[in-house]
Amino acid sequence: MAGPLSPLRVEVFTIFPELVEGFCSGALLGRARRDGVLDLRIHDLREATSDARRSVDDSPFGGGAGMVLGPGPIFESVEGAEPPRPLYLLGPRGRRFDQRMAEDLAGLGTTATGGFSLVCGRYEGVDQRVADHLVDGELSIGDYVLAGGEAAAVVVIEAVSRLLPGVLGNEASAEDETFTSGLLEYPQYTRPAVFRGWDVPEVLRSGDHGRIERWRRAMALRRTIDERPDLIAARGGISEEERNLLAVEAPISASVDVPVVSDDPAAGPPGGPGDREAGPTTGAESPG
Ligand code: ADE
Repeated sequence: MAGPLSPLRVEVFTIFPELVEGFCSGALLGRARRDGVLDLRIHDLREATSDARRSVDDSPFGGGAGMVLGPGPIFESVEGAEPPRPLYLLGPRGRRFDQRMAEDLAGLGTTATGGFSLVCGRYEGVDQRVADHLVDGELSIGDYVLAGGEAAAVVVIEAVSRLLPGVLGNEASAEDETFTSGLLEYPQYTRPAVFRGWDVPEVLRSGDHGRIERWRRAMALRRTIDERPDLIAARGGISEEERNLLAVEAPISASVDVPVVSDDPAAGPPGGPGDREAGPTTGAESPG
């Protein structure tokens, strides 16, 4: 339900508009566009070229392999469109895109500028003057190098768009999931109850919503402790109540060292001397 809200406007500048358009035409994004929740405008940088070959790149000053995306078509295309800002250049050197940033960008739909914009880098690089004098920042989707920013653009657009009101069928599901809570999501099951001899945990079929909730929280905690201890550290460890929950529902493997903070608010920040206790089931106060 789009309601009275205006759509989130997202503008993308790329030399491969068909790549971005293709991904953003189907499934969730296609529906968000048709429903008027997402106003996506894709600009072909080649349309801002003036030569017969419509060239967008050139060899680097100073020599070296590869081609560099020149500043001319990017500046002209952006200046002609006057897209909503912030305007980000996508590339592996940028700030890391994460769920918090997705939430911030989704919130831009309600601001005066109404959205954000993305420039897709390509080839061996983009003329530095784009980063220095045109965009507001650089954005990376992870520590690996893609051939260009198009795949990164669609990652950003999807992660943001699914947070817009009315885009997900079940709006609660965007809040109850991995990263939003600072924990990985608990395991999910559907029918059949037994598949190739593997049972769905009995608790999920018990109908006891209190038990189910406790089990899910315990499983989310345990998964996160085992797979992403950095997320546990980032939230300041686990609380006493969570420690007890884990001990009952999902005991932690003895090898895992869980970051711990004191239950005493006067005891100082997590990670300080005396915060760490031996043993896998020591607890900590979560910050919230
Ligand atoms: N372009 C190339 N690699 C990238 C990355 N990791 N993130 C965003 N854009 C990119």
